[in-house]
Amino acid sequence: MKRRKFIQNASLSTFGIAVGSSVFASEKKLSSIISEEIKSENSTASFPLVIATWNVNNSTAEAWRVLQEGKSALDAVEKGCMIEEANAEGQSVGIGGLPDRDGNVTLDACIMDSKGNYGAVVYLQNIMHPISVARKVMEDTPHVILAGKGAEQFAISEGFKPVDLLTDASKKAWEEWKKTSQYKPIINIENHDTIGMLAIDKNGDISGGCTTSGLAYKMAGRVGDSPIIGSGLFIDNEIGGATATGLGEEVLKTVGSFLIVELMRQGKTPQQACEEAIGRIIKKSPNFKDFQVGYIAVNKKGETGYYSIHDGFWVTKYQDGKNENIPSDFYDKK
Ligand code: GLY
Repeated sequence: MKRRKFIQNASLSTFGIAVGSSVFASEKKLSSIISEEIKSENSTASFPLVIATWNVNNSTAEAWRVLQEGKSALDAVEKGCMIEEANAEGQSVGIGGLPDRDGNVTLDACIMDSKGNYGAVVYLQNIMHPISVARKVMEDTPHVILAGKGAEQFAISEGFKPVDLLTDASKKAWEEWKKTSQYKPIINIENHDTIGMLAIDKNGDISGGCTTSGLAYKMAGRVGDSPIIGSGLFIDNEIGGATATGLGEEVLKTVGSFLIVELMRQGKTPQQACEEAIGRIIKKSPNFKDFQVGYIAVNKKGETGYYSIHDGFWVTKYQDGKNENIPSDFYDKK
C-alpha cells in the first residue's frame, strides 16, 4: 500500500474512534504526518516558510522566529509586517510613509488567516501598526473593513497609541514634491513598495498580511489594492496564497491575488500563476511601461513564485533556515 493511501485510511479510522478534544489532537497529529508526506514528495518545497515583497530581511527574520516558536502563520505575518511598519526609514509603510498630496500619511493594511477570516483598515491615520488593527478588526468586530476616523477610533479604543507618522525626511520629500505638485501620480519602482508577506507554519497552514502607506502624493482619500481582499492579498488554505506590490489601481482592476490563487487551483505552479496575472495587466494596460506591479505566491506544498512587470522587484524568502534576498524575473526585457 502506498504511504499516502495508508495515511488516508489511517485518517478515517482515527477520526472514527476519536471524540471531543481527542479529535482535535488526532487531527493535529495527522496534519503533521501529511506535512511530512508533502515535503518528501517535492524536495524543493518545504515549510515552515516566510516570503515577502522587497528586501525586508528583518521582517522575514521576525516572522521566522515566531514560526520557530511553534506559533501560527497568522502570528508570524503580523509580527513580521510590524517590523517594517515601525521602520521610520522605509517611506512606503507605517511611520515615515510618504504622505498624500495634502501632507497626511494614510495607511492601508489587511490580514487573512488559514480559515478564510479577513480584516482590514483603510485610510488609517496616526497609528503605527495598521496590520495589528486589521487583525483586531478580524478578531474583535463583526466587520471586515474599518475606514478613516472610525478605524482610528477603534484602534485607540483597543489601546493603540496615537503617533505622528510624518517624519522629517518624508515631510521634506513632500515639500520638494509640492514645488511641481503634479497631481498625476508619478510612478516608478522606487516610490512604491508595499510589504506583502505570506507564511506557512509547521502545520502547513497559510496566512498573509499586506501593509502600505500607498502611492506617494496620492489624492486625499485614495485607497489602493493592499487592504482589499482578493486584490492586495488572498489566502485559500487548501491551495495557497498571493500578495501584491506596485500600482494598486492595476492590481484592483484584475483582482490579482485572487486570480493567482485560482490559477494555482487549476494546476498552475505559483511561478506560472504570477506570470499569468502580470500578463493580464500587460494585456489590459498599454501604458504598462509607466508603472510597476509585482506578485509573490506560495502553494500548499511550500513552492513559491514571484514575477513583476519591470526589473528591480526583489523578494525575501526565509526557508530551510536561510533568509535570502532574491531578484524577481520580470516581463519588460525591453
Ligand atoms: N500597492 C499599494 C497601493 O497601490 O496603494
